Amino acid sequence: MKTLRYLIPLFGLYLLLGEPALAQGPDASCLGCHRAVAQGGISHRVHGLGADPQSGQAGVGCTDCHGASQAHLTNPGQPPDIRFARGQSDGEEKCLTCHTGEAISHWAFSEHSAAQVGCASCHAIHSAIDPVQERQSQFEVCTDCHQREKMAVMKFSHHPMADGQVQCTDCHAPHGGNSLSGLTGPTLNDTCYQCHAEKRGPFLFEHEPVQDDCSHCHLPHASVNDSLLKAREPFLCQQCHIASRHPGRLYDSNQLGGRDINIVGQSCTNCHSQVHGGNQPASSTFRR
Ligand code: HEC
Ligand code: HEC
Ligand code: HEC
Ligand code: HEC
Ligand code: HEC
Ligand code: HEC
Ligand code: HEC
Ligand code: HEC
Ligand code: HEC
Ligand code: HEC
Repeated sequence: MKTLRYLIPLFGLYLLLGEPALAQGPDASCLGCHRAVAQGGISHRVHGLGADPQSGQAGVGCTDCHGASQAHLTNPGQPPDIRFARGQSDGEEKCLTCHTGEAISHWAFSEHSAAQVGCASCHAIHSAIDPVQERQSQFEVCTDCHQREKMAVMKFSHHPMADGQVQCTDCHAPHGGNSLSGLTGPTLNDTCYQCHAEKRGPFLFEHEPVQDDCSHCHLPHASVNDSLLKAREPFLCQQCHIASRHPGRLYDSNQLGGRDINIVGQSCTNCHSQVHGGNQPASSTFRR
């Protein structure tokens, strides 16, 4: 009876610290050694162990992700069943037992899945915030592997990606999509129209390559040329208009002796300024 009088307030304190909520189920055995992990960053996220419905947490247990880990329990020198690592797909099937929704529906056919870039390559689970889901820090996570895109922002013309003003996942669905390169729009053009709606038209006079595919003329990430262009003018236009009447003549420096600076080297768009299409009469040749 006497001992009980001491035990009751102790148990109250125990309740106050939320211990019972943490110590249920198979995960109790992990907490003996990994309490700090359970109370760390993950406790601020939906995967935290808190069973309190008010916390908004799903009550995902350590063993739901890391496996029952019997060998590790008896000898911590042995690794747990699943450790997860960047650039590996180990353990992915655990994530996919719960994550079957719309957001992940293209995963099985995605480039990342094919290259065994598993969930933990992008997602940090134990930190209080997940950098890949934050506009300011996503660039760092993706370009840790995609070095070419990291260098992109050093080029003369580039989408402002480094600070997340435009982020990778504005254009790429992170878990894959229907289109090539898993774009967020059903087509490349639709992806661009999300922000450049004024290029969509319809125009009275439409320039066929614009309606067809922006990437006839533009690179998506960056370019050493102006305006993300694939090539400098006039070469850009002459990829297709080599056979048209005046350009060949205008730009033949042999005929012009390379001296007439009003014509030679002049951008086609100095005159054809409405290259994306227009509604004026002169727009039939995209000049206004
Ligand atoms: C007897 C103490 C003990 C128990 C119980 C225990 N662990 Fe561990 N665990 C350790 C030690 C020690 C390490 C190695 C040091 C470290 O990385 O913290 C470790 C490491 C880990 C690692 C990192 C492994 C790595 O190499 O990256 C994971 C994941 C892990 N434990 C999960 C669990 C899970 C899940 C449980 C419950 C099923 C559990 N542990 C139970 C002591 C324990
Ligand atoms: C939603 C899945 C998930 C849950 C739940 C989870 N982990 Fe992890 N754990 C991971 C992943 C993924 C990593 C790899 C590093 C990272 O992404 O943060 C990891 C890494 C670890 C590590 C090694 C790195 C570190 O941060 O020290 C330990 C130890 C660990 N987990 C223990 C636990 C324990 C204990 C629990 C339960 C409180 C737990 N994990 C719950 C997915 C999970
Ligand atoms: C036992 C079920 C379960 C497992 C296993 C699980 N999750 Fe979750 N996860 C959830 C639930 C429930 C939510 C909240 C609802 C939602 O967003 O789908 C969630 C949310 C998330 C979120 C969005 C919220 C946040 O905090 O970032 C991400 C990202 C995520 N999980 C990734 C993972 C990854 C990666 C793994 C494997 C390492 C994993 N999950 C394993 C159940 C689980
Ligand atoms: C290439 C990096 C990358 C990989 C790999 C990845 N994710 Fe994600 N995930 C993201 C990003 C970025 C977001 C934030 C949503 C966005 O920006 O569209 C996200 C969001 C989520 C969400 C929240 C979705 C929502 O809309 O509520 C869940 C759940 C999730 N991921 C689970 C997973 C699982 C499970 C895997 C492995 C099968 C995985 N992710 C692999 C980058 C990735
Ligand atoms: C752990 C490394 C890693 C991380 C992190 C990563 N990727 Fe990837 N990504 C790859 C690999 C490997 C491929 C397979 C094709 C290749 O080798 O380029 C790939 C392919 C792609 C492709 C498809 C390329 C194609 O040819 O169709 C896109 C788009 C892409 N990643 C975007 C992203 C975005 C956006 C993020 C961040 C949200 C990201 N990646 C994070 C490694 C990574
Ligand atoms: C403005 C939209 C946009 C943004 C922002 C964007 N991409 Fe892309 N990305 C594209 C388009 C469009 C393609 C080419 C699609 C095609 O033609 O196959 C592409 C192609 C790719 C490819 C495959 C082609 C290659 O060059 O190997 C990778 C990998 C890639 N992007 C990664 C990234 C990463 C990482 C980020 C963020 C740093 C990013 N992208 C930001 C639109 C974008
Ligand atoms: C998430 C919004 C977003 C999407 C999607 C997007 N852009 Fe942009 N784009 C921007 C922003 C922001 C700028 C910078 C505008 C500025 O600096 O005034 C920009 C600038 C440009 C420029 C001018 C670059 C320069 O150096 O002047 C071109 C060309 C361009 N985008 C083409 C595209 C193409 C092609 C696509 C589709 C592959 C696309 N954009 C998708 C937001 C977007
Ligand atoms: C026939 C080649 C061509 C095609 C195709 C093309 N553009 Fe352009 N774009 C240009 C040229 C040339 C410039 C630079 C001269 C100028 O400012 O008009 C430019 C400039 C831009 C600019 C920056 C200046 C501005 O007008 O806002 C944006 C944004 C842009 N293009 C978006 C797009 C989008 C989105 C598509 C696809 C719907 C597209 N472009 C298709 C040739 C093209
Ligand atoms: C990918 C191929 C392609 C590129 C690159 C291209 N065009 Fe075109 N352009 C076309 C096609 C196709 C038509 C419509 C066919 C036609 O009427 O001859 C057209 C039509 C035109 C017309 C109207 C022709 C007419 O007879 O009404 C002008 C002017 C024009 N383009 C200028 C340019 C300029 C300036 C550039 C460079 C900024 C350019 N184009 C780049 C394919 C292209
Ligand atoms: C000095 C102004 C000027 C420059 C520079 C210029 N154009 Fe033109 N272009 C015109 C005018 C004016 C017309 C309309 C002629 C007509 O209506 O008969 C025209 C018509 C066209 C046409 C439609 C008729 C045809 O010849 O097929 C095409 C295509 C064309 N230009 C392409 C180009 C390309 C490509 C360049 C750059 C290599 C270029 N233009 C540079 C003024 C110019």
